[in-house]
Amino acid sequence: MTDSLRKSARTLLTCADDFAMMKQSVDSLYQLFNSITQVSAFNLNEDKDIMLPSGKAISIAAAAHCLLEMKRTAVFLRGIHKAIQQKLNGDKKRPVHILYAGTGPYGTLVVPLLPLFSPEEINVDLLDINQASLKALQTLIKTLGLESYIGETYCTDATTFVVEKDYDIAISETMLACLKNEPQVAVMQNLIPQLPPKAIFIPEEISIDAALTNPKMEQDRLLYYEGEHPPFRRIALGNVFTVNKQNLDTAQMQKTIEIPDEKAFPILKLFTTVKVFGNELLSENDSSITLPKTFYDLRQQLANKIKFWYEQGKKPHISSQIYTSIFSN
Ligand SMILES: C[S@@+](CC[C@H](N)C(=O)[O-])C[C@H]1O[C@@H](n2cnc3c(N)ncnc32)[C@H](O)[C@@H]1O
Repeated sequence: MTDSLRKSARTLLTCADDFAMMKQSVDSLYQLFNSITQVSAFNLNEDKDIMLPSGKAISIAAAAHCLLEMKRTAVFLRGIHKAIQQKLNGDKKRPVHILYAGTGPYGTLVVPLLPLFSPEEINVDLLDINQASLKALQTLIKTLGLESYIGETYCTDATTFVVEKDYDIAISETMLACLKNEPQVAVMQNLIPQLPPKAIFIPEEISIDAALTNPKMEQDRLLYYEGEHPPFRRIALGNVFTVNKQNLDTAQMQKTIEIPDEKAFPILKLFTTVKVFGNELLSENDSSITLPKTFYDLRQQLANKIKFWYEQGKKPHISSQIYTSIFSN
């Protein structure tokens, strides 16, 4: 079983954008994880989300389902693999201590990598708010004979968790596109300041950019053309929100953007980019967490300026205020 795990992990690390290979590997991981844990990724109506003061912790089935988002899984595994290698090559201190916050039932972003290292090289603490997820993950780890890689297991909220170790790497993917509804930002705000300055947090950065778009051009772009592609253009408006190690005080982050008078580009969309680690990026349409979102239709109401900020709480989201000049036509 660990041979199959190792093989899938190696393929996902090296298959670049070969989607057939990516799919085969995540399918084979899913079969293995599902058969051991009995957790299905498709019981989406039966399972309950957990509502936290900082956002929604998605249900066990939805968390299992994340594995099947093949490019997301591949790019995170590549980034985490590189971060572990960088720590192993740099600091000679062994093992590399990892905190994995928001494991889900399969520990998707770490479990496939374990057989590529030795227990002397990496040691992982697991954390999730969902007891059932942790129970399934413990069964998985035991059945795969990977217990020697695992340190502590915490069933708690990552947004209030008090860190008691000097972790080298902390990982958490608890987000949707535009950082909506889930507590990713609150998790980063709690964990990052408690880590040693040299620690790597994964993902390293999440940014949201705005652009004006033309509906026909956006649609045509997704169609197949044998010959020349139809023209495609967007009007970039700049960054509206970025969160990373240096930039955690979201209360201070407000961006006001001037809206140019471009009648052919009436739809303002927000584009999420996730910099996992180094050059491992997820951008537009690579995954559900980086799907472009329509934010504002200038045909409904004109706007000269829009102020954006990030609102936290039970339903985190990008919020905005529209400024319209009475002189515009
Ligand atoms: C999007 S799933 C990701 C699962 C898996 N890590 C992956 O990437 O495939 C998020 C997981 O984080 C957990 N989670 C969300 N918010 C949390 C919080 N504040 N504290 C602890 N766990 C949380 C959820 O229960 C869920 O298992």
